[in-house]
Amino acid sequence: MTFRDVSQVRRIASIGGGPIGGGWTAFFLSRGFDVTSYLHEPAEEPAFRSIVETAWQSLVELGLAPGASLDRLSITSDLGAAVGDADFVQESAPEILNVKQALYKSLGEIVPADVIISSSTSGLTMTDIQRDCSTPGRTVVGHPFNPPYLLALVEIVGGDRTDPQAVGWARDFYLQCGKQPVVLNRDIPGFIATRLQEALWREALHMVANGEATPEQIDTALINGPGPRLALMGQCMAFHVACGEGGMATNLDQFGPALKLPWTRLQAPELTKELRDAMVEGCDGMAAGRHFEELARQRDRGLVAILKAVRDVHGPAGDNHREEETP
Ligand SMILES: NC(=O)c1ccc[n+]([C@@H]2O[C@H](COP(=O)([O-])OP(=O)(O)OC[C@H]3O[C@@H](n4cnc5c(N)ncnc54)[C@H](O)[C@@H]3O)[C@@H](O)[C@H]2O)c1
Repeated sequence: MTFRDVSQVRRIASIGGGPIGGGWTAFFLSRGFDVTSYLHEPAEEPAFRSIVETAWQSLVELGLAPGASLDRLSITSDLGAAVGDADFVQESAPEILNVKQALYKSLGEIVPADVIISSSTSGLTMTDIQRDCSTPGRTVVGHPFNPPYLLALVEIVGGDRTDPQAVGWARDFYLQCGKQPVVLNRDIPGFIATRLQEALWREALHMVANGEATPEQIDTALINGPGPRLALMGQCMAFHVACGEGGMATNLDQFGPALKLPWTRLQAPELTKELRDAMVEGCDGMAAGRHFEELARQRDRGLVAILKAVRDVHGPAGDNHREEETP
C-alpha cells in the first residue's frame, strides 16, 4: 500500500475533545498544520477550547513553527467533514473498546485509504480496535504521554492487520513534527513507558499500604532523587554511569544476585479502603486546596523550563535522538 508523502501532510483531523484530543490539537496547530477537531458532543466546545488555549500558552513559550496559529483550527461534530480532506488522523476517543471498534468501522470507510489513522489508546491493542475496520492496513497506535503537547514520546505499534509500512510512516511523521517516536518490537500491555510507570506506582502503593511511607514522602523522594536525573538519562544509562569504569557489567555482576529479592518479593497490592483513603488524603494534603487546573498549569510551567534545559543538553526531540528501526 502506498501512503501519502509524509512531507506533504498539511491537514490533520483530531478526534476527541478530552485532554488528549485537545492536547494533540494544540500540538499540531503549534507545528503549523491546519487542524479539524471532531467533537462528539457540540456542547464540549467551551471546555475543549479551554484545553487548547491553556496548552497554547506553553507551546508559545517553547516556540511555534512558522505560520502556526490558533486560527487554523476548525471544529465540527460531523465526522465525515472532519476527516474528509485530512492527510492524517489522530484518534483520541474514549478508552472503550466497542466505541473505538465502531469508530474504526466508520473511519475505515470514510477516510481515504492512503491516509494513516493513529490511535492514542493507552491500553487497548490495535488488533482489537481494527477488528471491524475494512481498511486496517493503515491503522496504528500512536500513544502519547500526558500532556501530549509537551512530552515528546509517542509509542508506535501496529495490529495483526497493520501494514508494516504504516508503522514506518507514523514514525517518520511524528519525528518530522518534533516528537520522539519509539516503535515497539511487539504489542505489549502498557507499551514501554506506562509499564515502567506502573512498576513505580505499584511500589508506591505497597509502601503506603504497609505504613512504610506517606504519599508526600514518596513524591519528595522522587522529585529530589530520580526525577531530575530521569529527564536527562534513562534508568539503564543512569546505572551504567553510576558504576564508573565497569559500567553496566559491574552493576549486574556485583548487585545482580541481591536484586532477586526486591524483584520478586512483592505482588500487586490489595486496593483496600484504607489504602485508597491514605492515598487520597496524602494527595489532597499536597494539593493544599489548589484546584487541578492550577496544579496542571504549575506542572506545565515547570515542564516548559525542564524541556528548555534538556534542549540545551540534547537538542530538540526528533533532531538528534536515536531513531528506532521498524520491526
Ligand atoms: N488521559 C491520559 O492521561 C491519556 C494518556 C495517553 C493516552 N490516552 C488515551 O487517549 C484517548 C483519549 O483520552 P482522554 O483522557 O482524552 O479521554 P476522554 O474520555 O476524556 O475524552 C474522549 C473524547 O471522545 C469523545 N467521544 C465520545 N464518544 C465518541 C465517539 N463515538 N467517537 C469519537 N469521539 C467520541 C468524548 O466526547 C470526549 O471528548 C484514550 O484512548 C486514552 O486511553 C489518555
